[in-house]
Amino acid sequence: MAGKRVAVIGASGYGGLQTLRLLQDHPEFVVTFLGGERSSGKRWSELVPFLPLPHDLVVQSPDPAAIAAAADLAVLSLPNGLAAQLAPALLELGVKVVDLSADYRYRSLEQWREVYAAEARQVPRSDGELCAEAVYGLVEWEAERLRSARLVAAPGCFPTASLLALLPFLQQGLIDTSGIVIDAKTGASGGGRAAKEHLLLAEASEAVAPYGVVGHRHTSEIEQQASQAAGQVIQLQFTPHLMPMVRGLLATVYGRLRDPGLTADDCTTLLRAAYRHQPTVRVLPVGTYPSTKWVRQTNCCLLSVQVDRRTGQLIVMSAIDNLVKGQAGQGVQALNLLAGLEAGTGLPLLPFYP
Ligand SMILES: NC(=O)c1ccc[n+]([C@@H]2O[C@H](COP(=O)([O-])OP(=O)(O)OC[C@H]3O[C@@H](n4cnc5c(N)ncnc54)[C@H](OP(=O)(O)O)[C@@H]3O)[C@@H](O)[C@H]2O)c1
Repeated sequence: MAGKRVAVIGASGYGGLQTLRLLQDHPEFVVTFLGGERSSGKRWSELVPFLPLPHDLVVQSPDPAAIAAAADLAVLSLPNGLAAQLAPALLELGVKVVDLSADYRYRSLEQWREVYAAEARQVPRSDGELCAEAVYGLVEWEAERLRSARLVAAPGCFPTASLLALLPFLQQGLIDTSGIVIDAKTGASGGGRAAKEHLLLAEASEAVAPYGVVGHRHTSEIEQQASQAAGQVIQLQFTPHLMPMVRGLLATVYGRLRDPGLTADDCTTLLRAAYRHQPTVRVLPVGTYPSTKWVRQTNCCLLSVQVDRRTGQLIVMSAIDNLVKGQAGQGVQALNLLAGLEAGTGLPLLPFYP
């Protein structure tokens, strides 16, 4: 088999399925190992007949030695807490890892234990040095460090959309560091493939509902990265909502402009300059607002800026596909960099509309 060998652990879940779909179109990667728990022992062609692999595989329990024998790189798409049970051994065996969960998103293990307390009670961890080593995989902002990394913590879906909107303004010191508000909406696939009552059709369709109001886990992740960009500690307000759609995520970010004379045109110019070398981020003209449908099944983030001169508020709207740019696509971007390829290799940027 030609190509760089990749293992996908959690293959049967939404993140695993997107990763496999993206890798099918990839010119350099070949999938050589599939890992899972309940799906373990099942032949892929029977388990997921709608997404055949060029070489059929049997899903296996994710034993690090077996993964290392089959693959050079691994994408871990597992519930929180499980990547940390695998990654240390994989790295020891020379397998580079992209983790799509939150296990390595915080610089300190103590913070992970605090935010992911329920998981921390179930899975003992002592890999604090790996938390410090892992590179936060927001590719547009961390490409240099990712090229030489061996462990990547792919950002959460809400942090991805929010940070891509916010970081250029924070880094330039253009908005107040207090009073930032992020109002975000996501589709039901954001909750994963495992059965959950609030994601049943009868519960989620024809309804919009907030959840995790005050203290959603992604708040601290956004704050960590926003604080790093601003060079000071930032606390912000983040409220997610569940929308009656399968995929897509829209974050609307509000911040007070320090210079009330700045216009939407000025802010659009700034955003375009910040992302001029990043084909994954496109900034729309002033007055055109992004729809989740415009980024469906793509690895693109669409941004748009408006300024309310009456209130002095900057408003940045950010749309992504939660399963692609918000999860698997961003993971493959990082995988590309770990493998010495261009970040965008093999990744779709244009939607099939509608
Ligand atoms: N969904 C999103 O929009 C999104 C976005 C960004 C990040 N994330 C993060 O990405 C990760 C995966 O999310 P998801 O939505 O893809 O979850 P999911 O659909 O629930 O899939 C989870 C996968 O993990 C496997 N798994 C569970 N327990 C396992 C174990 N003990 N050993 C081996 N495999 C096990 C399952 O395999 P079996 O079926 O074989 O048990 C399944 O394939 C999560 O940490 C999530 O927070 C999700």
